[in-house]
Amino acid sequence: SIVILDFGSQYNQLIARRVREMGVYAEVVPYFEDLEKIKAREPKGIILSGGPASVYLDGSPTLDKEIYDLGIPILGICYGMQLTQHLLGGEVAKADKQEFGKAEVMIDDANSPFFFGVPNNTQVWMSHGDHVTKVAPGFKQIAHTDSSIATLVNEEKKIYNVQFHPEVTHSVDGHQMIRNFVFDVCECEENWSMGNYIETAIKHIKETVGDKKVILALSGGVDSSVAAVLIHRAIGDQLNCFFVDTGLMRKNEAEKVMATYGEHFKMNIECIDAEARFLTKLAGVTDPEKKRKIIGHEFIEIFDEQKKRFKDADFLAQGTIYPDVIESQSVKGPSATIKSHHNVGGLPEEMEFELLEPLRELFKDEVRKVGRELGIPDHMVDRHPFPGPGLGIRILGEVTKEKADILREADDIFIEELRNEELYDQVSQAFVVLLPVKSVGVMGDERTYEYTAVLRSANTTDFMTATWSHLPYEFLGRVSNRIINEVTGINRLAYDISSKPPATIEWE
Ligand code: XMP
Repeated sequence: SIVILDFGSQYNQLIARRVREMGVYAEVVPYFEDLEKIKAREPKGIILSGGPASVYLDGSPTLDKEIYDLGIPILGICYGMQLTQHLLGGEVAKADKQEFGKAEVMIDDANSPFFFGVPNNTQVWMSHGDHVTKVAPGFKQIAHTDSSIATLVNEEKKIYNVQFHPEVTHSVDGHQMIRNFVFDVCECEENWSMGNYIETAIKHIKETVGDKKVILALSGGVDSSVAAVLIHRAIGDQLNCFFVDTGLMRKNEAEKVMATYGEHFKMNIECIDAEARFLTKLAGVTDPEKKRKIIGHEFIEIFDEQKKRFKDADFLAQGTIYPDVIESQSVKGPSATIKSHHNVGGLPEEMEFELLEPLRELFKDEVRKVGRELGIPDHMVDRHPFPGPGLGIRILGEVTKEKADILREADDIFIEELRNEELYDQVSQAFVVLLPVKSVGVMGDERTYEYTAVLRSANTTDFMTATWSHLPYEFLGRVSNRIINEVTGINRLAYDISSKPPATIEWE
């Protein structure tokens, strides 16, 4: 495997995904991970990620120098390069001018295994304000740009340093360089596949659970669904699932979940009808954060009741995935809460259960692959994310059943049309928002006075930043006609053309 030491780069997960896509297991650990623990993983290679700090300032993230003497090949990227040089006797200083964006790299040593299959001039992605001014003993330059050293190597110790970011797709041959490092320098084998993963996970779940019982709150989202099917594959009826119908779900959502997981997969799953509870608590509330808190709180209450019902269960299963794990071990400081996110159920405060999280090691695209291999239908595996508070934060202002019913119909038409036109997979998240605004319209000879709805569709890779989807006008026109004609209660439709930031994907 490859261990990636995280120095706070926004690209650290990308490095791991690139390596895994090559069929090699890679994991991200904080830079301050104990050296013994790193050794215990027996990695074939170590990658030092980039990061926002400056190596020459006091208190900047650093490493135990012994790591360079383990005999394990190391690739230092950006900050990882500067730190390596700084620790091993080189010098790093602030560059006269920042290098940010695309740059051309000229290769000085075309025979280096790191550049196998890479042309002599190649485009890379740079993002740095510091650079190496003196090369550490034992290292030689094997590539450069106009203004900086691009690549260094210590051949004897198999330490490679790159100033650019090979993990970013703008680095045209970056993928090849990572491949060269992983397979030629580290001599990794290709053995990370989702088929293998399922086999190992099932064995592990069986061993862990034995003849005990497991409960799981299935939201119908990709993560909890894949976790449920995987666990069910391992222990069958020892798994009890429940689905909470909050009344804030999409059209026929409860029926679809019950049909897929109850009837098709024959899992023990119960649908808890909690519509009245949620809507009563939400009556009269218009403040977005209050709505979120009320919904989150009600979930926890229902969850507690279920825990009491299944008190003979020993395990609580969750669809936690790898980005959640990395996030929670983040080397960055706490970032400002923009919205109080919550996930279905949330973590119980006093832990009476042991946690079972069979997807903890997987990225989202890997979870989807596992789901497909387990036979979960595409339309369930490829679903756009749906927030825990559901339609509660897509009905602006007060939430009522009447509005939820109107929104469900409109949203269903939008999604159906996206699927019909094969646009669904080309956008990251699409939905309809219902505004607390009525406007005047005319239908036949009648004056109407009804709600305004907004179509929202965003494209993003990480949901931290997003652009609005450039959906075809004809398509938008058809969706608008259908919604206004078919949904009683809506007589006007708008298209949201704001990006994130400064807007967010959801409206509340
Ligand atoms: P925003 O609106 O902050 O949303 O741009 C980013 C992504 O997060 C989803 N989202 C949530 N997911 N619980 C969730 O599980 C929540 O409370 C929540 N709020 C927003 C949103 O749908 C988008 O995918």
